[in-house]
Amino acid sequence: MEEQIAQLTGEAQAAIQAADSLEALDGVRVKYLGKKGELTGILRGMGKLSAEERPKVGKIVNEARAALEEQIAAKNEALKGAALANRLASEKIDVTLPGRRVPLGHLHPLTLTLNRIKEIFLDMGFSVEEGPEIEKDYYNFEALNLPKDHPARDMQDSFYITEDILMRTQTSPVQARTMQSHEPNSPIRMIAPGRVYRRDDYDASHSPMFTQVEGLVIDKGISLADLKGTLELFLQQIFNDKVQVRLRPSFFPFTEPSTEVDVSCVMCHGHGCSVCKGTGWLEILGAGMVHPHVLEMSGYDPNVVSGFAFGLGVERIAMLSYGVSDLRLFYDNDMRFLRQF
Ligand code: DAH
Repeated sequence: MEEQIAQLTGEAQAAIQAADSLEALDGVRVKYLGKKGELTGILRGMGKLSAEERPKVGKIVNEARAALEEQIAAKNEALKGAALANRLASEKIDVTLPGRRVPLGHLHPLTLTLNRIKEIFLDMGFSVEEGPEIEKDYYNFEALNLPKDHPARDMQDSFYITEDILMRTQTSPVQARTMQSHEPNSPIRMIAPGRVYRRDDYDASHSPMFTQVEGLVIDKGISLADLKGTLELFLQQIFNDKVQVRLRPSFFPFTEPSTEVDVSCVMCHGHGCSVCKGTGWLEILGAGMVHPHVLEMSGYDPNVVSGFAFGLGVERIAMLSYGVSDLRLFYDNDMRFLRQF
C-alpha cells in the first residue's frame, strides 16, 4: 500500500513538472487529487484495511496529498508568471509614439457671421429674441399688414403645413410676437435671427432656406434718423469704417415709409465692379418706420410711440465679407470649403 502511494506520488510529481500550460496542470490535479482521482481512490478504499493500518495509511495519503497540492500551487504560479512574461514580450507598446488626435472642428462661416452681427447689436443694447420656424399665417402675414389675398404675399410663397400654418417666410413675425409679449407701448430694442423658408430656386444666389436677422426698435420719438444712424453704425462695423450708406425709397407692407439700405461696394469701394454690377452700390437690407397699423394690431399706440424695423440676409453679408461667390457653398458641407474659415 505504502509503495503504491509512493509510486503514485512520484508519477504525479513528474506530471506536475511536465505540465506546460495551466490547462495541462489542472488535468494533472484532477487525475490524482480530483473526486475520482487516483490518490483519492486509495482513501476511499481504506475501509478494507485493518483498524491498525487505517490511521497510518490515512496519514501518508494526506501528507502526499498536501505535498502535491503545494507543488501544484507553486507550478501554477510559475506558469502564470511565464504566461504574463510571454504576453509582455509579444505585446510591446511604444509609449514614445505620438498620440492620434481627434480632429477639432470649428464654427460654420454662417454662424461666425451671425455671431458677429449679434455682438454688434448686443453692444448697442439690443436683446436677442427668437420665434418659431413653423409659424402661424397670422404672425407671418396678417399681423404685418398682409391680409389674405394681399398681392405682396405672392413674392413669399412658402411651404404650408395647413391653411393657417406655414414655414415662416421671414423673421418679421417676431416683431408682432415681441410686441405682444411686452406691456403695450413699452420700449423694445431687439434683433431676431433665424432660418426662413420660401419656394425658390437653388442657385448661386437663391435658396429655399436661408437666414435672416430681423430688427425692431420702438420707443417714444423714434425717427428715420435713428434708423439711419443705427444701421450705418452696424454696417460700418460689419464691413469697415469707410463704407458709405444710402437709403432708397421702397415698399414693405409693414413699414411706412419703407427703404432699401445700400452700402458702397465693399469689393471696389464704389468704383464699379462685377459684384456691384458697375453701380458702386450693394443692396444690403430692407427697413422702414413701423406702420401705425402694425403697432396697433399688437397693442401699441402709434400716437404714443413710434419705431423702426429692418431685415437683413445673413448669407449675403457672409458672402460679401468672405468673398464667397456661390451661396450653395454654405450648405454643401464640403470640407475643402469649410476648412478655410
Ligand atoms: N421681411 C422682409 C423680407 O423678408 C425684410 C424686411 C424689410 C424686414 C423691411 C423688415 C423691414 O423689418 O422693415 O423681405
